[in-house]
Amino acid sequence: MTGTQDYIKDNKERFLDELLDLLKIPSVSADPAYADDVRKTAEFVASKLTTAGADNVKLYETAGYPIVYGDKIIDKSLPTILVYGHYDVQPPDPLELWDSPPFEPVIKKTKLHPDGAIFARGACDDKGQAYMHVKAFEAMMDKGELPCNVKFMIEGEEEVGSDNLGVFCKEHAEMLSCDVVLLSDTSVIANDVPSITVGLRGLSYVEVEVVGPNKDLHSGVYGGAVGNPVNILCEMIASLKDDNNHITIPGFYDDVVTVSQDDRAKMNEAPFSLEQYQEDLKIDSVHGEKGYTVLEQTSIRPTLDVNGMWGGYTGEGAKTVLPSKANAKISMRLVPNQDSDKITELFQKHFESIAPKSVKVTVTPHHGGSPAVTPTDTVEYKAAAMAMKQTYGKEPIPQRSGGSIPIVALFEEVFGVKSVLLGFGLDSDDIHSPNEHYGLFNYYKGIETIPYFYQYYAELKK
Ligand code: BES
Ligand code: MN
Ligand code: MN
Repeated sequence: MTGTQDYIKDNKERFLDELLDLLKIPSVSADPAYADDVRKTAEFVASKLTTAGADNVKLYETAGYPIVYGDKIIDKSLPTILVYGHYDVQPPDPLELWDSPPFEPVIKKTKLHPDGAIFARGACDDKGQAYMHVKAFEAMMDKGELPCNVKFMIEGEEEVGSDNLGVFCKEHAEMLSCDVVLLSDTSVIANDVPSITVGLRGLSYVEVEVVGPNKDLHSGVYGGAVGNPVNILCEMIASLKDDNNHITIPGFYDDVVTVSQDDRAKMNEAPFSLEQYQEDLKIDSVHGEKGYTVLEQTSIRPTLDVNGMWGGYTGEGAKTVLPSKANAKISMRLVPNQDSDKITELFQKHFESIAPKSVKVTVTPHHGGSPAVTPTDTVEYKAAAMAMKQTYGKEPIPQRSGGSIPIVALFEEVFGVKSVLLGFGLDSDDIHSPNEHYGLFNYYKGIETIPYFYQYYAELKK
């Protein structure tokens, strides 16, 4: 891989410029106003795959946004890596909290990124990380050092639930057949503490509506007698957790796999400073489930969080009104072996059952997804660990993440293969938040590490 690594060194500037161009296209999948730009982004990725040397590059149309496919099959008897990534990004709002416009990338130094970081929506999640794979592939192709077959599948709907990707995978299972899925859409513990993600949480996402009187009322004339939907929604939500921050929905924990004391102890050996964590977030204390450490609360335990809530008057000044309805969006992060559909159902039943007679409650399910865990005693994990050891000079730590990539569980179901979650971001890179960024160190480290994964994987599979 020395040729490949030299090529990467010689082309660093251009690799960065291309990523900046990619980041300038606002591919927000959640908002139809960006539809043309999302499509343009797919075309950009496809054209870069072609120049990198991929064959059969094509945009596969779906009921939503297209999926970019491309491959290089050098020898059918060699193993095949399926690279997955997503070119769509989260909405950038609230815009006023960005220090620079979200789709005009700038490079600035930070404490954790002394070499500079690219500030833009999607810099880390996932344009920057997905693009590393295109550049690593280009380098291997240029030097004739691609050691196995590769297929690319870059989608545009990850941030809205990947529904159409599931359909696509099932319909094109043969075209996508592979020995392993490789993706970079997660984090390392720190730039000097490499890690490999071996677990993702699942997700169950619902929207609730509480309706009281048939119209907004004068809060003096009617207040005191008529049930206030906003008050009632708050009470209902508050009752979903007890004093220990344990979720009170009956049956919620039934399928949660208990992690052994041994494994928990190992998990807690990962470097973590509660003081630093609180200092970074400017909080005086954390507020998690009793009996678990922060590392456990954010990986092996399920959660329930309000993501947004509205109702009544929220404009300037004071308006005395008793609102007719209130709404909230609620997410539950799930762990093995919780089932997203089952949890959504349990939530729905329970939430409806605790509603007082004075209001009507509806629960509307949004997207969901299964949790995933990957073993560490596999060829693919070993290859990933060897690749990181090579470029970081340190053995990586296996770590479960709190985030969700629902499609990973589906890959296993449809293709019968495991995924390698070789992510290079930092949890503090502000993905989904204002001022998202991705370190230049991380971008280049990813591009350098990926070819070693190919090499070690091909060797170990022999
Ligand atoms: N890349 C993230 C997931 C992630 C981030 C995993 C950091 C591990 C560490 C992904 O793009 C994402 O945001 N997923 C969503 C779920 C999806 C169904 C909208 C999430 O986790 O909220
Ligand atoms: Mn992502
Ligand atoms: Mn995301």
